[in-house]
Amino acid sequence: MCGIVGAVAQRNVVPILLEGLQRLEYRGYDSAGLAVVHDGQLERVRSIGRVADLTEKSAGTRGFIGIAHTRWATHGVPSVRNAHPHISKDHVAVVHNGIIENYEVLRTRLTAAGYEFTSDTDTEVIAHLIHSHYARGNSLLVATQASLAELVGAYAIGVIAADNPDQLICARRGSPLLLGVGIEEHFIASDVSALLPVTRNVVYLEEGDVVEVGRRSYQIFDTKGMRVERTVQISELNNESVQLGEYCHYMQKEIHEQPQALADTLESVCNSQSLVPGIFGAEAAATFADIDSILILACGTSYHAGLVARYWLEEITGIRCTVEVASEYRYRISVANPKTLVVVISQSGETADTQAALNHAKTHGHIHTLAICNVPESALVRLCKLRMLTRAGPEIGVASTKAFTTQLAALFLLTLILAKQRGRLTAEQEQKHLQELRHLPSGVKKVLELEPQIAKLAEQFASKHHALFLGRGLHYPIALEGALKLKEISYIHAEAYPAGELKHGPLALVDKDMPVISVAPNDALLEKLKSNLQEVRARGGELYVFADAHTHIREAEGIHIMQMPEHAGYLSPILHTIPLQLLAYYVALQKGTDVDKPRNLAKSVTVE
Ligand code: F6R
Repeated sequence: MCGIVGAVAQRNVVPILLEGLQRLEYRGYDSAGLAVVHDGQLERVRSIGRVADLTEKSAGTRGFIGIAHTRWATHGVPSVRNAHPHISKDHVAVVHNGIIENYEVLRTRLTAAGYEFTSDTDTEVIAHLIHSHYARGNSLLVATQASLAELVGAYAIGVIAADNPDQLICARRGSPLLLGVGIEEHFIASDVSALLPVTRNVVYLEEGDVVEVGRRSYQIFDTKGMRVERTVQISELNNESVQLGEYCHYMQKEIHEQPQALADTLESVCNSQSLVPGIFGAEAAATFADIDSILILACGTSYHAGLVARYWLEEITGIRCTVEVASEYRYRISVANPKTLVVVISQSGETADTQAALNHAKTHGHIHTLAICNVPESALVRLCKLRMLTRAGPEIGVASTKAFTTQLAALFLLTLILAKQRGRLTAEQEQKHLQELRHLPSGVKKVLELEPQIAKLAEQFASKHHALFLGRGLHYPIALEGALKLKEISYIHAEAYPAGELKHGPLALVDKDMPVISVAPNDALLEKLKSNLQEVRARGGELYVFADAHTHIREAEGIHIMQMPEHAGYLSPILHTIPLQLLAYYVALQKGTDVDKPRNLAKSVTVE
């Protein structure tokens, strides 16, 4: 979603802003822009298209203070006039992530006060509002604080003024923003990857923080306007981990990073002889002892991880588990149970709907909260009592891959630890599971060897307009995930069904033009699945089956088999995800889509 970079330095900041924006490209955007102060004037450059276009257009622009932005359209179409920064009266420039809900009221008021609006965005009201307070003689900080008090909604903003070449003001509420601390220079950004070339020392701003950022110093004010200190942390993200290296796309790189990501996520557990609740936080043992049910809240791919976990949790621990799409739960009047463990799952930790769902749960009396998240210091991690960080490393491709499989690994650990605490896991079973987890990275490596075969298979999909994914039991959510991956990066319409549900409707869609992709693990439901596949074949549907060894599903006319290794038991969903990710990737390549930045999508969905 939108990205912000800002800098105040002793050198020309334009290259810093542009490189920062380039590093935020993965978040998804449709236009970009920057503004600097130069010789007492604001200079603005905006472009619809890639940051590379903005870079070309910015040749010759310079300034020692500036703000920049990649925009993912919410209010108003992607266009140069709607691109940020927005400027009021040639004097105040603003970049903004988030959504201002009361912008219409403010717009009417500001128009009546003589402000001319030149865009359709909600952001422009912020620029005019700050200008209106600034023009009354307030400092830029006070003008910004006064304006923020009038805003309803979510924001991360950066503000500069033509007559103030030494100070940049930034603030956040509901959208992420951090401060980068350099030597006699300071920076702001929506995520740390933007700042890695200039600093690793960062301050993660808290809800409601407003910061006056100068070259030599900065001052942070909390929601009440009181000065506060925030810890400077050294980011562990390394520059290489956000480089593409030998791969063509981040998605391909991230698919291949899964063995390492899983090994890293499981490291502490696999190196020990037994499972302990402490990996979820100091209070985990007491919390787990106090719960009688689990509620999982997440969106998109993370929601699919939750769906898999429900099968594990109910079967292995005997604890009742429900999984809800966060954007629905947040508005639902539900029955709260203080003995429920609320688990939020998120790659970014900043997803607005998941955050709101968590807050909704807390307001309704839920006290036990756990975040499974890939980004330390993210909002969700900070908002939960317990946490487990997946260690997938930065995920740049919009389509989530390694975050998903590491979430599954974390959820499986949660299952085993709860089962052990409830006396439902013998010492022998515990050792067996630990052994299987230790082998998981190499199992994933083995499945990745299918890549050339899947690349070939993808050629047959490029001309298709629809696809059906089937799975049963634990693997039904994997079918959902396969369909999501295919639709988001190849734009092929894909649906997933539990295979037993075919005859209740979707079978009507099956003909020779409908490829049907099936996940076929060698589990208790295999024979049932085989019958479902026969139903498809009998209607002329072309079958593509990812089948475990010894399933005895044979290649035949209209039945294409991708041979998976031996059945991996409870961990099988993790292995079966890999070929579906590869399939989506290679079909997208065939179709020539923008794999890492699919149209209309954003990486971090920080607005509702
Ligand atoms: C799909 C995808 C999205 C995210 C969803 C939640 O590939 O990436 O569906 O899974 O937007 O994002 P997080 O996990 O960051 O909360």
